[in-house]
Amino acid sequence: MKVVIPGGTGQVGTVLRSALAAVGHEVVVLTRRPAREGEVRWDGETLGGWAREVDGADVVVNLAGRSVSCRYSPVTLREMMDSRVRSTRVVGEAIAAAARPPRVWLQMSTATVYAHRFDAPNDEGTGVIGGAEPGVPRYWAYSVEIAKAWEREQELADTPSTRKVALRSAMVMSPDRGGVFDVLLWLARLGLGGPVAGGAQYVSWIHDRDFVRAVEFLVGRDAFEGPVNLAAPGPLPQRAFMRALRAAWGVPLGLPATRGMAEIGALALRSDTELLLKSRRVVPGRLVEAGFAFEHPRWPDAADDLVRRVRTRRRSRLYAG
Ligand SMILES: NC(=O)c1ccc[n+]([C@@H]2O[C@H](COP(=O)([O-])OP(=O)(O)OC[C@H]3O[C@@H](n4cnc5c(N)ncnc54)[C@H](OP(=O)(O)O)[C@@H]3O)[C@@H](O)[C@H]2O)c1
Repeated sequence: MKVVIPGGTGQVGTVLRSALAAVGHEVVVLTRRPAREGEVRWDGETLGGWAREVDGADVVVNLAGRSVSCRYSPVTLREMMDSRVRSTRVVGEAIAAAARPPRVWLQMSTATVYAHRFDAPNDEGTGVIGGAEPGVPRYWAYSVEIAKAWEREQELADTPSTRKVALRSAMVMSPDRGGVFDVLLWLARLGLGGPVAGGAQYVSWIHDRDFVRAVEFLVGRDAFEGPVNLAAPGPLPQRAFMRALRAAWGVPLGLPATRGMAEIGALALRSDTELLLKSRRVVPGRLVEAGFAFEHPRWPDAADDLVRRVRTRRRSRLYAG
């Protein structure tokens, strides 16, 4: 297959690109700064020569969007919104204009679209969309607005020959440097991997291997359209999540942090506490119903696997250096 991945230079794109290329697919990445073979320039906003890559491709997986790992401010939130809406719109325009449109368009969305809740998991059918939860910072609703606008843009695209799927993905855990797992592991190793603000908030996650397998599954299943949750079936409270991560690395202690301490930590890391404090309890209703089997459904096992791979990489870097 020929797979085009707009925004494929980031953490998720790196995982997907290498996995798809490893099994022999042709992968083209659209980026604002092409640097490697297989990368083509686009600006994420306007149609251009890059659209020729989409014409005749089998699959498009659009991952483009300003990183959410930053301090949330009116400016950064606007950039998060605009980069997602505009890139999705122009991908839709390229598909609509193609003489041979792709069979399927997988559009990244996010598990953040669901409400902050503890009482029950969110699947695609019964899940509660966020934005109206009482007692949470008002700006959290904006992340939900971004997710909704992102999905709406794909829905609006007039691409009748292309099946459209929105990937409501949880955090993709991969052993790569700079990824979310890397940051969490670093905190745990510093002794800071304890409960944050009590640690009852749920963490939803998906192992990188299962993310890739789910993408392949969705490409192959013609029945799938619309939103699909990409999350392991075992979301767990943050305190249990970090405990398992500490156990996987062998860190005996994780200092608890209050909400205020988390605020200071997030400031130091140029990140936002919403990423730590929002309870994301998301489960893969549609994937499980369709018979998708997770290789890593439970976090302790997934964390062991990721830690093993981090250690293997470090060892090989050490020997190479
Ligand atoms: N990582 C996760 O666990 C996770 C979970 C759920 C959803 N998501 C979503 O999935 C997508 C990919 O995640 P990621 O972690 O790989 O993100 P990432 O590392 O931040 O990469 C996103 C890519 O988007 C491109 N981009 C950034 N700003 C842009 C703009 N203004 N216009 C066009 N392209 C822009 C960048 O490519 P160039 O600089 O090369 O152009 C960048 O490599 C993101 O939209 C993210 O919100 C991620």
